[in-house]
Amino acid sequence: MKRIIAGITGVNGWVPDYVLTNAELETMVDTNDEWIRTRTGVEERRILKGEGLASSHMGQKAVEGLLEKTGTSPDEIDLIIVATVTPDMIFPDTANIIADKIGAKNCFGFDIHAACSGFLFALTTGAKFVESGTAKKVIVIGVDMMSSIVDYTDRSTCIIFGDAAGAVLLEPQEKYGLLDSVHHGDGSGRDFLHMRAGGSLRPASLETIKNKEHYIFQEGRTVFKAAVNGMCNSVDEVLERNNLSKNDIDWIVPHQANIRIINSVANHLDFPKDKVMINIQKYGNTTAATLPLCLWDYEDKLKPGDKLVLTAFGGGFTWGATYLTWAY
Ligand code: UT7
Repeated sequence: MKRIIAGITGVNGWVPDYVLTNAELETMVDTNDEWIRTRTGVEERRILKGEGLASSHMGQKAVEGLLEKTGTSPDEIDLIIVATVTPDMIFPDTANIIADKIGAKNCFGFDIHAACSGFLFALTTGAKFVESGTAKKVIVIGVDMMSSIVDYTDRSTCIIFGDAAGAVLLEPQEKYGLLDSVHHGDGSGRDFLHMRAGGSLRPASLETIKNKEHYIFQEGRTVFKAAVNGMCNSVDEVLERNNLSKNDIDWIVPHQANIRIINSVANHLDFPKDKVMINIQKYGNTTAATLPLCLWDYEDKLKPGDKLVLTAFGGGFTWGATYLTWAY
C-alpha cells in the first residue's frame, strides 16, 4: 500500500491595512529608524484596528481567501488547527470561532499554543491527521494579534511585533508533502520570554494590570542566542536525518524574528540569501503567522517538488524544523 503523505495544497495570508512605520514609532518611544532597521530588519508592521476585531477576524479572512483559491467549500473541512498566543479569549479556542465565522459545520478544531513555533507544531499535528486517514482536508492557521499584548512604551519589544494571519490547506498526496519534522522544547526558557499574568498562576487583578504583567516580557539577548542555536541545530538535524545536504534544498523558510537571526542561520548553512524567504521588513515578527506569510509571499516562486525546510524558535522555549516538498 502506498504511504499517504500530507501536502500543502494551498496557502493564503491576510494582513490588516494599518501600517505602523518606524517613523511613527519614533514619536511613541525613544528609538530611531536606523536602529530598528539595522538591529531587527523591520521597516514596518501591520496593526489590526477596529472595534470587536481580534485574531479570529484575521484568521477568518485568511481562510476565506484560501477556500476561494483552492475551490474548497467550508463543509468539506474536517479539522481546523489554530496556532496562536493571542486567542480571542482564553476559551473557547479561536479555531472554533473561525469555524463558526466561515460556516464550517462538519469540522472540529483546537488551538496550539507554542508561541513562534506554533505554526510548525500545528503543521505537524495537522499532517498526522491526514497521514492516518482520519482527515482529508485540514486547515492550519498561524495568527497573532501581537498589538494586543505589546507594551507600546517598551522600546525593546514594540518595534518588533506586528499582526497577521496565514493559513494552509493540507490534503492527502502521494508524491509531495511533509516528509519529516524535528521538534524541541525547554521549559526553563520560560523565564526569558513570557506574558506573566492572565493565566491560572496570576489571574488578572488590579495589581497585575498596574505592574504591566499582561504584556510580553522578553530578555532579548538571551532569546537571540537561543534562537540562532535552536534554528541552526534543528535544520542540521532534519537535513542529516534525511541524508540531505544544503545543496539539495531549494528554500529555507525561517521564522521572522530578527533579520540578524535569519542571516546567522543562512550563514551557518552557507546558504545563498536569495533562497531564504524573508519578509520581516514588511510585517515584523507576527509570531505564529510568520511561516505561512512567507509561503504566501513566495508562492509564485515555488514549483512542485521544491524542497523546503521550515524552521522556527519561540517562547517556551520551543523550536524545530520541518522538511517538505512543495505540492503544486
Ligand atoms: O520570536 C520569538 C523569539 N524572539 C526573538 O528571537 C527575538 C530575539 N531578540 C532580538 O531580536 C533582539 O535581542 C532585540 C531586537 C530584542 C534587541 O536587540 P539587541 O541587539 O539584542 O539589543 P540589546 O537588548 O542588547 O540592547 C542594545 C542597546 C541597549 O542600550 P545600552 O544598554 O547598550 O545603552 C538598549 O537599551 O540598544 C538599546 N535599545 C534600543 N535603542 C534604540 C533597545 N531597544 C532599542 C530601540 N531603539 N528600540
